Amino acid sequence: MEIIIRKDYGQMSISAAEIIAGLVKDKPDCVIGLATGSTPIATYRHLIHLHKEQGLDFSNVKTFNLDEYLGIGIDLGRPYETDQSYARFMHEELFKHINIKKENIHIPDGLAKEPEKFCAWYEEEIKKAGGIDLQLLGIGGDGHLAFNEPGSSLFSRTRVQALAKQTLDDNFESFYSKANVKREDMPHYAITMGVGTILESKHALMIASGAKKAGIIAEALEGCVTSKVTASALQLHPGRVTVMLDEGASSKLTWSIN
Ligand code: GLP
Repeated sequence: MEIIIRKDYGQMSISAAEIIAGLVKDKPDCVIGLATGSTPIATYRHLIHLHKEQGLDFSNVKTFNLDEYLGIGIDLGRPYETDQSYARFMHEELFKHINIKKENIHIPDGLAKEPEKFCAWYEEEIKKAGGIDLQLLGIGGDGHLAFNEPGSSLFSRTRVQALAKQTLDDNFESFYSKANVKREDMPHYAITMGVGTILESKHALMIASGAKKAGIIAEALEGCVTSKVTASALQLHPGRVTVMLDEGASSKLTWSIN
């Protein structure tokens, strides 16, 4: 595991975007796993900048998003502007600004009629694409990867997962168009890639920013591997793991930095 510390959120995001851009240049038909939440927004902005200013080409890139709330999604029956799905988040924050092909984008379908079948299909699509070359990850306040809440098996696959109260509280802050919803109306379930799915990526790139993430980052990187903090499973990742932090998020690490 390599841990890289940058001064602030902006520098951390540029460095993360450069790792992703490097892969896209080396392997134009690479498969990238994408994350949502507030942390990756500036990483996506820098990728957009590299696309617009330097011609970074996404035309052959395939993407697979980590997760989606169950029960919401871009639905033609409802106004797009009031949609809170991660599908809309990704469209607004990244996809509509770059030259990625629609058919190369994969996001769990929060409106799937048979979610279990959908999850099995999603796993198959990842396999068919040749696996994920680089998986971008954030970390939840309770240490979750994607929506793998405390207690999730470290061997878990893409599935439906109930959301923890802390996650609902944390994510309400960044819930898209939240003016339209009350906290109690947030979806209580999500479709998420499993920890096992994530551990099969060739390179995992976790990003975290700010002192409020410092405690959980220290637990995940320096604590025991435990399903209580599913991000700790990155310690078992057999391939390459990069953790990109700013000074705030790294401030409680002890032995893993000098
Ligand atoms: C959500 C996502 C996670 C993400 C987390 C962190 O729960 N499902 O994939 O890591 O939010 O969000 P933030 O970056 O806003 O702290």
